[in-house]
Amino acid sequence: MRTQVGIIGAGPAGLLLSHLLHLRGISSVVLERRSRDYVERRVRAGVLEQGTVDTLVAAGVGERMLREGLPHHGIELRYGGAGHRIPFEKLVPGRAITVYGQQEVVKDLIAARLEAGGDLRFEVEDVALHSLEDRPYLTFGGERLDCDVIAGCDGFHGVSRPAVPEGVLTTYEREYPFAWLGILAQVAPSSEELIYARGERGFALHSMRSPTLSRFYLQVPPDAVAEDWPDGRVWDELKARLETVPGFTLATGEIVEKSVTPMRSYVVEPMQYGRLYLAGDAAHIVPPTGAKGLNLAVADVRVLTEALAAYFRDGSAGLLDGYSAACLKRVWRAQHFSWWMTTLLHTFDSDDAYGRRLQLSYLDYVTSSEAAATTLAENYVGYEW
Ligand code: APR
Ligand code: PHB
Repeated sequence: MRTQVGIIGAGPAGLLLSHLLHLRGISSVVLERRSRDYVERRVRAGVLEQGTVDTLVAAGVGERMLREGLPHHGIELRYGGAGHRIPFEKLVPGRAITVYGQQEVVKDLIAARLEAGGDLRFEVEDVALHSLEDRPYLTFGGERLDCDVIAGCDGFHGVSRPAVPEGVLTTYEREYPFAWLGILAQVAPSSEELIYARGERGFALHSMRSPTLSRFYLQVPPDAVAEDWPDGRVWDELKARLETVPGFTLATGEIVEKSVTPMRSYVVEPMQYGRLYLAGDAAHIVPPTGAKGLNLAVADVRVLTEALAAYFRDGSAGLLDGYSAACLKRVWRAQHFSWWMTTLLHTFDSDDAYGRRLQLSYLDYVTSSEAAATTLAENYVGYEW
């Protein structure tokens, strides 16, 4: 079997790449180890930058997102007994974000690929990469797929990055001493906008998916498991961390999903080796506080599509050779922003009283200085170089 681009992973990165390549007349095969049902149900983040929305619309897969997604023109930072709105319409006019679940993006992309006759293989076993320097090929479940190039879109725990010979990649990494417990609940959101709440009990985030579905996150110890958090405990803690301003009551409902996400910052450089190109979580991870993970994956894929289009058009490899450098500028901006939002809003056991005062002072600055608030806003909606 032969294709132009062998894509490992049917997350947002792999699926969007396959679709964008198809629109350029470039063939690909997507190999995914999980079932279609599993990837379509996996609840992840849900904040789309304008650039991500524009990419999906231009690719013809934005119709449901435009209909069901929720445009947001601000977020609230809540701390010290008060809420402070960061108004995007004032600070970054014309730019906003759209709240639309990542698994909805995945569903739309799978539907588009299948409708166009795309070759998506689910529940594929033992994907392995070979001959990355020249004439690369993939093996899986007893089959062989010859490719011109391989795209490693298989997330943080995939096989692509480890297939690069030792010593080629440099890893930059930071772990955080906490995790996020994420829950999805069948209840109308208690706020029109996202609330990022900092308090002595730890961070909490109130997000949403639809007028009847709310999404929440709680800062929890790094070794927490969902079983530690029966529903009653989740609501008690969410109330304790969010009902901190006068007149705000958190509506509760049935919890339909609950999972723990580790918090990590991670980058490998370069994001390529030989004929292998890494995109999305396979190359970099950000803590979810800045809501950048999905948007970075989409940005990588945009760059890779242009580079592959030039390569397959006339053999010019310049853009492909520069792929990693072109992506890393945005990746590192998002790394800094995500780290900054995380340290601004979480409690660290290692923090002494002085550290906590510094954090509060910085929050006061961000919510009172227009310049500082603009820094937050322009990064949150997506900084374009
Ligand atoms: N063989 C085949 N598929 C694999 C393998 C493997 N060995 N290992 C992992 N995969 C698949 C996973 O099952 C998953 O479906 O690769 C896919 C990777 O998808 P994501 O983890 O969603 O990564 P990506 O497409 O880069 O999207 C990044 O996802 O993790 C979130 O917050 C992150 O929003 C960001 C986005
Ligand atoms: C989400 O809705 O899942 C979400 C929102 C904002 C974040 C992270 C996740 O920063």
